[in-house]
Amino acid sequence: MRNTLKTLFFTFIFSLLFYSPVNAQAESLTQERKVELKNLLVQDCGSCHGMTMKGGLGPALTPDVLASKSRQMIEITITHGRPGTPMPPWNTILTKQDINWIVDTLYAGIKHE
Ligand code: HEC
Repeated sequence: MRNTLKTLFFTFIFSLLFYSPVNAQAESLTQERKVELKNLLVQDCGSCHGMTMKGGLGPALTPDVLASKSRQMIEITITHGRPGTPMPPWNTILTKQDINWIVDTLYAGIKHE
């Protein structure tokens, strides 16, 4: 009985340690915020990267193109921009979570209803 409780306790602690940060992040964006971010992607990012992310002034950001690029590079680029190029920094209006969601969405491909 004691051991069962111990096992349950540690399983609980470990699941908190390993799973909750990921889930908490994904879940803490409201549906409203996700809609706002999608609009931002299509309209603002789209003004340079193309409404369908196939490229324009900025390079294409489609899933096939991004597949070979590191998440860290993409996040840093969105957060801080690329000084000396038209790519602006977004950390003034987007949180880490927002950027995380944007990167997930770009990797998966934006669904155009
Ligand atoms: C004013 C134009 C402009 C806007 C707006 C813009 N970008 Fe960019 N972006 C660029 C340019 C130009 C580059 C290429 C910079 C370079 O030469 O390295 C770039 C590069 C990037 C890259 C790196 C791509 C790669 O393969 O290296 C990512 C990711 C990116 N932008 C995402 C975004 C996202 C997400 C948004 C909206 C939140 C956005 N951009 C808005 C112009 C823009």
